[in-house]
Amino acid sequence: MDKHELPFIQDMFESIAHRYDLLNRTLSLKQDIIWRNKLVQTLDLSGNENILDVASGTGDVALAICNEYPSIHIHCIDFSLNMLRLANQKIKVYPHTSIFTACADAFDLPYPSEYFHAVTMAFGIRNVVNKQQLLRTLYHHLVPGGQLLILELTLPEIIFLQNIYLLYFKKLLPMIGRMISKNNFAYDYLPDSVISFPTSLDFSKMMNTAGFSCVKWLPMTGGICTLFVGKRPD
Ligand SMILES: C[S@@+](CC[C@H](N)C(=O)[O-])C[C@H]1O[C@@H](n2cnc3c(N)ncnc32)[C@H](O)[C@@H]1O
Repeated sequence: MDKHELPFIQDMFESIAHRYDLLNRTLSLKQDIIWRNKLVQTLDLSGNENILDVASGTGDVALAICNEYPSIHIHCIDFSLNMLRLANQKIKVYPHTSIFTACADAFDLPYPSEYFHAVTMAFGIRNVVNKQQLLRTLYHHLVPGGQLLILELTLPEIIFLQNIYLLYFKKLLPMIGRMISKNNFAYDYLPDSVISFPTSLDFSKMMNTAGFSCVKWLPMTGGICTLFVGKRPD
């Protein structure tokens, strides 16, 4: 796993899991809900397909999808048991949904290839070192014609907005993050990881290189979050 992932990522999520949802809502001023809903609206499904949510964390993407598609089958994988425990607690409240969780590494998925009609990943790929290899893995697990949707935190491209955002992101956000999560490292790492994420154009080229077609991206909230969409050709 180490060659694909920074060695501290798994422990970091284990340690902040109990405060993850609260911090998401607080630090994004609840925009994270809007971003996940946009991902759901962009899914092109009839309603009873198999979906894979990679790096599912506390299950918010899966629950947002089920809200729109109640008969869908969603397989959530994450390598943090603490995040998955919280996901399971939330999923239990909706007993009629078909959401299944599994503790697994995104690079070693416990599913056959060409199995999923859509693969989603929200705020996870930024933490992955070998993004190109992960994109190829996800490609192989999609049926021909299947969709990949990736949500990621990005930097506004307009320099003026970027400067204001960086002020918040590098100064205020780590302070609030440290206070609420009691983790001194995670919310210092967050801005650094966003700053080093490829530009949207470069990331879309990586998706093309992995085999995806019709790649497009949609910046949201001034570009602080971007939805990337691609299709495995038929
Ligand atoms: C920022 S959280 C995102 C959670 C969720 N998708 C959301 O929308 O809030 C990133 C998640 O990715 C998981 N993760 C990171 N790398 C992973 C990998 N290689 N395999 C499985 N899970 C991974 C972490 O454990 C963490 O739960």
